[in-house]
Amino acid sequence: MDVYGLIGNPVGHSLSPPMHEAGYEELEIDARYVTYEPEDAGAAIEAAADLGIAGLNVTIPFKQDVLDHVEPDETAERIGAVNTVDFSSVGSTNGGRPTGHNTDVAGVRRSFAHHDVDLDGTTAVQIGAGGAGRAIAFALADAGASVHVANRTASKAHDLASDVPRAEGHGLEAVPDLLADADVLANATSVGMDDDVSPVDADALHEDLVVFDAVYSPIETRLLADAAAAGADTIDGAWMLLFQGVAAFERWTGEAAPVEAMNAALRSHLE
Ligand code: ATR
Repeated sequence: MDVYGLIGNPVGHSLSPPMHEAGYEELEIDARYVTYEPEDAGAAIEAAADLGIAGLNVTIPFKQDVLDHVEPDETAERIGAVNTVDFSSVGSTNGGRPTGHNTDVAGVRRSFAHHDVDLDGTTAVQIGAGGAGRAIAFALADAGASVHVANRTASKAHDLASDVPRAEGHGLEAVPDLLADADVLANATSVGMDDDVSPVDADALHEDLVVFDAVYSPIETRLLADAAAAGADTIDGAWMLLFQGVAAFERWTGEAAPVEAMNAALRSHLE
């Protein structure tokens, strides 16, 4: 049996176990997915390698710490964070270090692709410049969008924008004007999580927008409800959660993930 898992703190309410285990069941893979809250992420990676763990996801607060304990790929290096560790190289090439990846970027790209949204040549407005915002901004830019990053703390938006191709940083006051000419709006803040508030004034939304929210609880955030009412297309936060998991699943198992089964399992746990 192969063992996969998630390290972070807290991980008790994570939806990754049912999502991944639905995938193993669908493909008849003999595997389990467990969660663990370590004191020290580096020690956990070393122990996992010794125990023969096949793959680990990594979440807050360890996504940056883990970089020093793996061989990061180019995406993880660029984002400065690892959310997926693959142990298949341990004991073989590259000195036996596990490899580190960031599937949040693929999660965003595949969320848009799944909704038939071609980002190439679009203008995107992203609100938020934290950890999730970094992955989202690179994903949008890699797919060909010009990205306006707006953040409550404007200096953080400028810092992120300076790392991302075709990006500009702004304070939140710029958002309504920027949205008037935009094709895409992405919420990369935690605003709207378990709370009926939106990071954007509903009046600024319009029907030519695709609105993506990284918040998945509730599944229909105030932002997405306002966007739908304005006639915009919406992509809820469960898609990013699903597709970052799908990308990790595919890296670890080498098989095309059963996206529908994993999506159904994930959504059965969300409201
Ligand atoms: P994550 O890793 O989930 O992105 P984070 O790194 O703490 O978490 O980033 C949270 C983001 O949400 C930041 O962009 C933060 O803005 P600041 O950089 O100004 O703190 C944004 N955010 C959180 N609460 C907010 C609020 N009430 N209004 C506007 N932005 C908010």
